[in-house]
Amino acid sequence: MIPFVDLKAQYLSIKDEVDGAIQGILNSCQFTLGSEVAEFEKEFAAYCQSTNGIGVNTGTSALHLALLAAGVGHGDEVITVPFTFVATVSAIDYTGAAPVFVDIDPRTFTMDVSAIEAAITERTKAIIPVHLYGQTADMDPILDIAKRHGLIVIEDACQAHGAEYKGRRAGSMGDLGCFSFYPGKNLGAYGEGGMVVTDNPEYARTIRMLRDWGAEKKYQHVLKGYNFRLEGIQGAVLRVKLRYLEGWTEARRRAAARYEALFAGSGVSTPKAMAYARHVYHLYVVRTQQRQAWQDALTAQGIQSGIHYPTPVHLLPAFADLGYRAGQFPHSEQAANEVLSLPMFPELTEAQCEQVARAVIQLATPETREKDLVSTP
Ligand SMILES: Cc1ncc(COP(=O)(O)O)c(C=O)c1O
Repeated sequence: MIPFVDLKAQYLSIKDEVDGAIQGILNSCQFTLGSEVAEFEKEFAAYCQSTNGIGVNTGTSALHLALLAAGVGHGDEVITVPFTFVATVSAIDYTGAAPVFVDIDPRTFTMDVSAIEAAITERTKAIIPVHLYGQTADMDPILDIAKRHGLIVIEDACQAHGAEYKGRRAGSMGDLGCFSFYPGKNLGAYGEGGMVVTDNPEYARTIRMLRDWGAEKKYQHVLKGYNFRLEGIQGAVLRVKLRYLEGWTEARRRAAARYEALFAGSGVSTPKAMAYARHVYHLYVVRTQQRQAWQDALTAQGIQSGIHYPTPVHLLPAFADLGYRAGQFPHSEQAANEVLSLPMFPELTEAQCEQVARAVIQLATPETREKDLVSTP
């Protein structure tokens, strides 16, 4: 059996430190926020090349509060992509603003920067590029457009801890950057967690209040806030895990390079790492028009795989009220039909990589031959 991710293997490799960190919280009883969370905020913000980190309960809350701090609300529009996890769009919806979609660049699965300006109206307030699968969107043109139109940029870096764009860390380029520490993420809590990073002290102050009932001091509620605090145990565990993140990221990149070498010349459509990027391979995603058959065959061989994501958000029933139709974002729709995520985690062995690649190449071969036959005159 080759799992899709192996959280148990990772826990066992750092068991003593994690157990000690959890015991520390049991001893201190700092179960929500507290000193471990405060230290983790500083350390993770520094890791992201940012000056402020505000720990929250989920990545979704990070996006939600980043939008609120940026002043986004009813009557505003926020530009993002439909090919993302639903949370990006839900966070916009929570504020009362309207999500406005632009399609993705099919090479990278991230925002098609050439489509942004046509989507801007006088109501547009912010842009949320999503650094999907661990590679950042093409940030320079996005930041340039935002500057020219007076828009706020909020990076959805929930899948991109440690990813870089021309040497700049994901989360540090926009006005605010949002991270998830959901257990399966590159930096995963033992429960839920999230963080906003920002260089803007005013945004940081507002988010700090909003996550804790809008209070400036205990019982002094100056804003209508939320209970979005990060738990002490998560802060303590994440501090331990952050020390390993660079090593784990390099292991992911080695596994991706191994896949890439094994797939060379096979006709399998592999992820494209752009020259500007340090891709951190949260997911390793291939494309195929025979996805169901591939997934079934891999499952039969004990190889787990995933689909991220089978339906673009503009076609989800939950967002039917936005009024979008099939055919409006063809690259997102095609990607949703074709993407298949293969096993990817730092502990993936060379032998496991080879076994996965061998199985996929075998599936790809008849397809490649068919294509060859069709294109032969
Ligand atoms: C791109 C993206 N945005 C937002 C989220 C939301 O994060 P969370 O599950 O921590 O709320 C996730 C992760 O699930 C994600 O992958």
